[in-house]
Amino acid sequence: MVGFTLSALPALFLSLSVAASPVRLAKRDPMPSFVLANAPVSYLYSKEQWWPADVAVHLTHVTPEVNFSAVAPSVTFQNISSLGSDVCLTSKDDVSKSPAWLNSAVGKPDANGLSTAPTTIVLVNKPGGILDAFFFYFYSYDHGGKVLDIEFGDHVGDWEHSMVRFVNGAPSAIYLSAHSGGSAYTFNAMQKTNGRPTTYIGVGTHANYAKSGKHCHDLPADLLCDQTDSGTLWDLAANYRAFWFDNSTQTFSIAGGAGVGAANLEAEGTGWLSYAGRWGDEQYPVLEHGQYCLEIGSLVNECLYTTGPTGPIAKNLGRNAVCQKEASCTVSTSL
Ligand SMILES: *[C@@H]1O[C@H](CO)[C@@H](O)[C@H](O)[C@H]1NC(C)=O
Ligand SMILES: *[C@@H]1O[C@H](CO)[C@@H](O)[C@H](O)[C@H]1NC(C)=O
Ligand SMILES: *[C@@H]1O[C@H](CO)[C@@H](O)[C@H](O)[C@H]1NC(C)=O
Repeated sequence: MVGFTLSALPALFLSLSVAASPVRLAKRDPMPSFVLANAPVSYLYSKEQWWPADVAVHLTHVTPEVNFSAVAPSVTFQNISSLGSDVCLTSKDDVSKSPAWLNSAVGKPDANGLSTAPTTIVLVNKPGGILDAFFFYFYSYDHGGKVLDIEFGDHVGDWEHSMVRFVNGAPSAIYLSAHSGGSAYTFNAMQKTNGRPTTYIGVGTHANYAKSGKHCHDLPADLLCDQTDSGTLWDLAANYRAFWFDNSTQTFSIAGGAGVGAANLEAEGTGWLSYAGRWGDEQYPVLEHGQYCLEIGSLVNECLYTTGPTGPIAKNLGRNAVCQKEASCTVSTSL
């Protein structure tokens, strides 16, 4: 179980009131208070080294490339949406030399759970009184797992999310992204930290889980596993940039911000959320930057470095089911 003092999370003393009537909000409306009151409280692993990062800082360290050739010298919040889906935001530094910005502890949450890296919150109104609140976690580096003690699956840029579904203002379910899939639970099933859902983040890969401990995935015979524990608490409601997403027009608008995330919200705009390219380097050819790949029939096909991920726009924000992949979505009623 989770236990920490109330004083560690001042944000929790904010209103916990839940709207009694159905909620239909205009695009520019501020975020309803029930969203933050039910925002996840997430634990990074005790031996984590690849901490949350601010998207604004990430952009200063990358060059937009297509097929390993630069298409512009740099990129900003204001012009990233002009880039195509074939673009890979590529580290200016040799990733194999562990550049400081990819290994920075600047985003490590402090004793109050406050990270200097803002969460990206995306709110989507849907039919039936539904409001989906996506909490996006961003890291500049994903350190993949080890298979038989060999490192695989590293990439620059890492977008993960948890999504809390509200019905008429009351939390009903949660989705936790992990690797190519994820898991869904009723809100009631979740462990709570002062009423908020508690989640655990796998070391390096940053996959999200509802329970502490070891989580094996993707390969048979427990060859590849994530480790989680109640290491460093991250309060996702303490520092954020929040937006509305209109599914019918596929456009974003500003809902508000807090902390670092509030500082330049208007100037940053919303165009960056529509960028459909990759947030990290394209997968290197074998031998380049120490790249190696292992292929064992159809069982194993892994490389040390893989292509960076797509961003929020590609995470099925308009989903009807709770899960990102809607075809096979089980909402578990227990952990
Ligand atoms: C990138 O390289 C691939 C394979 O060599 C080629 O098919 C594609 O046209 C190239 N794209 C661009 C934009 O140069
Ligand atoms: C974005 O703006 C910066 C600064 O004005 C400029 O140097 C860069 O080339 C622009 N990038 C793109 C992709 O338009
Ligand atoms: C969002 O838009 C997509 C594409 O038009 C549509 O398939 C989906 O059903 C919409 N979602 C909701 C919740 O209306």
